[in-house]
Amino acid sequence: MIPPIYSPAPDRYSNGMKYRRCGRSGILLPEISLGLWHNFGAVDPLKRSFEIAHYALDHGITHFDLANNYGPPYGSAEETFGQIMKKSFQPYRHELFISTKAGYDMWPGPYGNWGSRKYLMNSLEQSLQRMNLDYVDLFYIHRYDPETPWEETLQTLVDIVRQGKALYVGISRWPHEATAFGYQYLRERDVPCLIYQGCYNLIRREPEEEGILNQAKEHGVGFISFSPLAQGLLTDRYLNGIPEDSRIAHGGHLKKEALTETTLQRIRALNEIAQQRGQTLAEMALAWILKDDFVTSVIVGASSVEQLAKNLKAIGSPAFTAEELETIERIIKN
Ligand SMILES: NC(=O)c1ccc[n+]([C@@H]2O[C@H](COP(=O)([O-])OP(=O)(O)OC[C@H]3O[C@@H](n4cnc5c(N)ncnc54)[C@H](OP(=O)(O)O)[C@@H]3O)[C@@H](O)[C@H]2O)c1
Repeated sequence: MIPPIYSPAPDRYSNGMKYRRCGRSGILLPEISLGLWHNFGAVDPLKRSFEIAHYALDHGITHFDLANNYGPPYGSAEETFGQIMKKSFQPYRHELFISTKAGYDMWPGPYGNWGSRKYLMNSLEQSLQRMNLDYVDLFYIHRYDPETPWEETLQTLVDIVRQGKALYVGISRWPHEATAFGYQYLRERDVPCLIYQGCYNLIRREPEEEGILNQAKEHGVGFISFSPLAQGLLTDRYLNGIPEDSRIAHGGHLKKEALTETTLQRIRALNEIAQQRGQTLAEMALAWILKDDFVTSVIVGASSVEQLAKNLKAIGSPAFTAEELETIERIIKN
């Protein structure tokens, strides 16, 4: 049974969450945000989705990250969130920072994918309907389209803000050169890019290696890390095999093949360092990303309230010693 009336914890802004300024903007985001890529689809228990969302807001997580194609099936995570809005969060809409995206295949035919004005405008309209929202706080272009002119996609982001359908815009997974063009194009039209969303964690370093982190910092754009726990690899989930209820066992985006012997050895070694620091591997993995202040937030996923509760313990983690950081680099790079 879904509780009929939800009222958020009165101490939600004083029970531990910390907030960081997003680049050079007026927006503060929680250090830990909640992503609805998994665990909020029509295939997932609705009661649990409500519980995770309630727990999040009760602990100061104001930022919920969605996309048109989250589910499965596509669109259903936004529909679940729409129910949460209707039944629980509506009176608190002004306390929430809700993002959605378009860029991946969403509907059949030539207009349901990539970066055209037609696709992005139509997709956002559908997202707003599914989520029971008049506007989103943040709309992202979800991925790089090598064929659509950059100007077409970027001007659509500008127009979406002008129409009042999004307050801010962001870029996800664009390469360095296109991103530089995007930052300038948007700034010149007084709709500066708020944030860049990229995959960055202890074992995935591309945004660092490709200069995306520095670029965001130099342009006063925030950076938010997705899959900060490498979809669960950077937790104790797979230390002793593949649990039946895990993401790998469900056979989705995280494949069994990702759990190579080298990766397992690295996870075990990282787990030992975490233990020496007096924390779990998940806590350490999140703390490692948050150690740099140009990272605005990490977007975690959670298949239970317990996981989210554990991840929140990363906030206020002890600082890393130079020796710990060196050992971590040795483990990852050997
Ligand atoms: N922009 C993009 O293209 C893009 C791409 C991917 C994701 N994202 C965003 O990033 C969000 C997070 O991605 P993600 O779900 O891959 O993040 P993640 O935090 O790296 O992985 C979440 C998964 O790890 C496991 N887990 C989490 N906490 C745990 C803990 N304390 N102990 C053990 N296991 C734990 C759970 O998997 P089990 O199911 O095994 O329990 C959980 O569903 C998405 O929801 C989405 O909003 C964006």
